[in-house]
Amino acid sequence: MGRATVYDGRAMIITLQIALKPVLCVLTPLMVLVGSCCMTGAAQTKAPSNAQLASKEVNTRVEALLKQMTLNEKIGQLVQFSAGYATGPNASNMRYDDLAAKGQVGSFLNVVGAEATNHYQHIAVEKSRLHIPLIFGQDVIHGHRTTFPIPLAIAASFDPSAAETAAHYGAVEARADGVQWVFSPMVDIARDPRWGRIVESAGEDPFLGSAMARAWVKGYQGDDLTKPDAVAACVKHFAAYGAAIAGRDYNATDMGEGTLRQVYLEPYRAAVEAGAATLMSSFNSINGIPATANPFTLNQVLRKEWGFNGFVVSDWGAVGELLNHSIGDKPTVARKALEAGVEMDMEGNLYGTVIAQQVRDGKIPESVVDEAVRRVLRVKFAMGLFDHPYAPEGPAYVATPERREAARKVAEETFVLLKNEPVEGIGTLLPMTAKAKKVALIGPLADNQLEMLGAWAGHGDPKDAVTLKTALTERLGDKLLYAPGCELLSGEDANVLKRLNFGGPEGADQHLPVPDDDKTIAEAVETAKKADVAILALGEPTNWMEGEAGSRVHLGFTGAQERLLEAVVGTGKPVVLVVLAGRPLELKWAAGHVPAILQAWSPGVEAGHALANVLFGDVNPSGKLPSSFPRAVGQEPLYYAQLPTGRPAHGDLSRMPANSLEKFMSRYVDEENSALFPFGWGLSYTRFSYSQPTISRGEVPVGEILGSRNGPVAKVGVDVKNTGSVAGTEVVQMYIRNTAASVEQPVRELKGFARVTLAPGESRHVEFPVGFDELNFYNVEMQRTVEPTTFKIWVGGSSLATAETALVVE
Ligand code: NOJ
Repeated sequence: MGRATVYDGRAMIITLQIALKPVLCVLTPLMVLVGSCCMTGAAQTKAPSNAQLASKEVNTRVEALLKQMTLNEKIGQLVQFSAGYATGPNASNMRYDDLAAKGQVGSFLNVVGAEATNHYQHIAVEKSRLHIPLIFGQDVIHGHRTTFPIPLAIAASFDPSAAETAAHYGAVEARADGVQWVFSPMVDIARDPRWGRIVESAGEDPFLGSAMARAWVKGYQGDDLTKPDAVAACVKHFAAYGAAIAGRDYNATDMGEGTLRQVYLEPYRAAVEAGAATLMSSFNSINGIPATANPFTLNQVLRKEWGFNGFVVSDWGAVGELLNHSIGDKPTVARKALEAGVEMDMEGNLYGTVIAQQVRDGKIPESVVDEAVRRVLRVKFAMGLFDHPYAPEGPAYVATPERREAARKVAEETFVLLKNEPVEGIGTLLPMTAKAKKVALIGPLADNQLEMLGAWAGHGDPKDAVTLKTALTERLGDKLLYAPGCELLSGEDANVLKRLNFGGPEGADQHLPVPDDDKTIAEAVETAKKADVAILALGEPTNWMEGEAGSRVHLGFTGAQERLLEAVVGTGKPVVLVVLAGRPLELKWAAGHVPAILQAWSPGVEAGHALANVLFGDVNPSGKLPSSFPRAVGQEPLYYAQLPTGRPAHGDLSRMPANSLEKFMSRYVDEENSALFPFGWGLSYTRFSYSQPTISRGEVPVGEILGSRNGPVAKVGVDVKNTGSVAGTEVVQMYIRNTAASVEQPVRELKGFARVTLAPGESRHVEFPVGFDELNFYNVEMQRTVEPTTFKIWVGGSSLATAETALVVE
């Protein structure tokens, strides 16, 4: 019996197949109450978002403590410093012991380990006047010590439980290290891969992003913040940070309120409704108002409309950086941030120095400070920090088989088979079989432990990472030949990376020889010639060129890798390309010349084993792209859910327009509009066929949809069949288009997906609920609504799905 997990945005529904007859049952009644709020409009005030933070017991304790606090002690709770290594510029250098003893700090970040955290906690709890514990925050992004694949890869699994697993292990390991608060998940919608932080995101789509956001929060916080395996999540970066103009990090964002709400804010809303205890404000401005001093997003939307009852921490130094946004002097920017709803100043030192005087001068009401302190203390009480402030000192971390297996299984779900075309005389190259006599493994990412971990591996140790070379050697022994081919960067740039020494080669110094690409590429070509098939492991340096401040304008392979690829393909040997990168790269040449391409992202600690399992077919790839891959950088930002234009492109866009009819439409004259590999794309070693989708009711009165906001009004059904000869998992996707709304709507929007595992020949009936949650949009009054219209509905294996049905809303 197979199993399909359907994520429809509000409930997880499992369709069980019994003798090919589907039975629908709701497994968990409600993962999240999407759609239960804000539905009557933007101005509605909602109930508290997190029940534990709203509990009477917690709030009684908060009020009792607040009454005893001096103004300086209150402000101390709103101050956070990095007392460890720096994760941003201009790091503080304070007397942290003194601050903790005097109650002048409420939190530290970047202090990791039971011993280090307990050191400061003992001071805070035993020496400060009111014995208020610190909360320790840390960037735990894709695992803490056991490194899982990067979040963008996890989104490619279309499996929220994979995110939950990664988050859960991150939480367990963070708590063991004295960290109770993780700066994750990053839920920024990212539609431009020039922006390096796309690596931390779930990609371009608000529906997928919301499902992932909920899952990360659930994995971190569990169902009870006091449990020893729970940490407080910090959803970041609020808001719209991912829309940085031109993909340049920290840049301004500028967009209409409808897009802001309907696209960019959606995953935050999902995370808040899932009970996220904290949020982080972002560096960017939104329509001219910095996000870290933005009363509209922080107060109106987050608190009033969504009922958020946790606290907001600024990003690193972001309160101080308001000076660069030119909205006032130090006291003014600190006041604006605090009054807008940023309760904690991360690594900034402005709240600690300029708020108290303004309260004394009557410029800031003390009630504003009190409300901020309340919110911080609520989280500390709800987490049980007053009762259990210390981390148990335990044995050193070991990457146990159980943890490695969890990381490997998640990684196996994240790989996306972009292409697998038959080669004459051989057939498809993947899965590889033992038939190949000799395999040449080539590329700078074939045997680089550090790079397997990815852009924000936190406390992951490169020494724990298994490379592709190690894993293939285990399988092939001396049938494996190896040549690095080139480095990730050319010339002196290659040495810059080594000098950064992110846990990399010991003793990197200033006198490294400049790599000779010509020589190493020639060696790789000779290695390829000796083999039956070549596997190239190429990509970009994850550290320094991905993640924060990792914006790029060229999205090709870095250094001499493209040259290496072309040289190896030039030998005529069949080539399998494994792309290891945390963003969509420009793969146009490769797509035209390489028969098999596997997008493998940054797979984490078990990279090699997971890759080998998929390359050899022990595991059938099932990932789908969470982000469109461009033909050329100039298409960016490129995403499938485009708004319509008055001159939609049609016809053959692969060639230059030859007359005015071909020219005057929304197109490029020198490239196609479409993605090279679109959102939702991903192949398998088997094939799936889809029946014509059906809808349980073709016509529904609008009043019924508006009146039943939490329930589906119809179901879209489709039969999916595995028509190939091996078992496989398909991600079945449902897209809609609202063809007649008062505000124009995207040409396609994902509104349901389901992972379906099928044996050869097996078929399954999959159903997607359709109701207010799937059909609503923001009208000009910024109210979520549904109007009479016709919805086109497609179901298939990618955003190109063609099998269609419709729903008429009368
Ligand atoms: C800056 C980053 O933008 C943010 O994501 C991170 O959590 C903080 N630094 C703390 O390291």
